[in-house]
Amino acid sequence: MIISVLNNKGGTGKTTTAVNIAAGLSMEDKKVLLIDLDPQGNATTGIGFEKATLASTVYNLLSQTKKADETILSTKFQNLFLLPSNLDLASAEVELSSTPGREYILREALAPIKDQFNTIIIDCPPNIGLLTLNALVTSDLVLIPVQCEFFPMEGLPTLIKVMDLVKSRLRASFDFRRTDNVRWQNSTLAKSPIPSLEQLRAASSEDRDSTVRQNGRGPKQGTSGNSLSSKEPCI
Ligand SMILES: Nc1ncnc2c1ncn2[C@@H]1O[C@H](COP(=O)(O)OP(=O)(O)OP(=O)(O)O)[C@@H](O)[C@H]1O
Ligand SMILES: [Mg+2]
Repeated sequence: MIISVLNNKGGTGKTTTAVNIAAGLSMEDKKVLLIDLDPQGNATTGIGFEKATLASTVYNLLSQTKKADETILSTKFQNLFLLPSNLDLASAEVELSSTPGREYILREALAPIKDQFNTIIIDCPPNIGLLTLNALVTSDLVLIPVQCEFFPMEGLPTLIKVMDLVKSRLRASFDFRRTDNVRWQNSTLAKSPIPSLEQLRAASSEDRDSTVRQNGRGPKQGTSGNSLSSKEPCI
């Protein structure tokens, strides 16, 4: 199964979700490939790689100068593999913009290796550009981490409309689920004008699929795979 973690809003917990699901599944003896499809390269750093020293990245895969099996890295975690990224990927959107079939490049590049993995997790950038479209048409499932605050919630209906459009126009066949990343603590709630957790849950019970709580170890995620080394995912 190929799962993309997507939200065009920044900082909603996409990378944290992607890295931790990938780590959690790999600890259950599933062979997992984590694809960092964000030029920020946060998932790459989060797994413990130095972005500046990478010999090849997902950029080489998309620009068809390397094949998937030449780009995938073993990580220090037994069943977890990484297709890394760095700032090189930022130029891919421009370079590929006039390539015929540009939305399907990732899907075609992964075709020869996808059956080697139980699960492939794609960490998307915070926008709906060509990279994200490539992730969507490649996916069986899309997870949308949503921060339970006014602005992130406000953008959600538009994002869902865009996803429906992608499904019909690009003949993509993914299903999607929303996960609420509840990033404030009860003490904050008491002082806040935003609705209570219970109110949010009641209001969103129809389409919310899971809830992730605030975790004090979350902010340490980026420090060279710290959250993974304890054998306990951080969310
Ligand atoms: N459940 C959580 N508890 C505590 N901190 C969290 C949680 N989820 C995410 N964070 C923290 O919030 C910040 C943003 O998370 P993250 O980088 O995963 O978001 P993102 O959606 O990938 O951001 P971007 O849009 O820039 O790619 C990070 O510092 C992360 O450690
Ligand atoms: Mg991210």
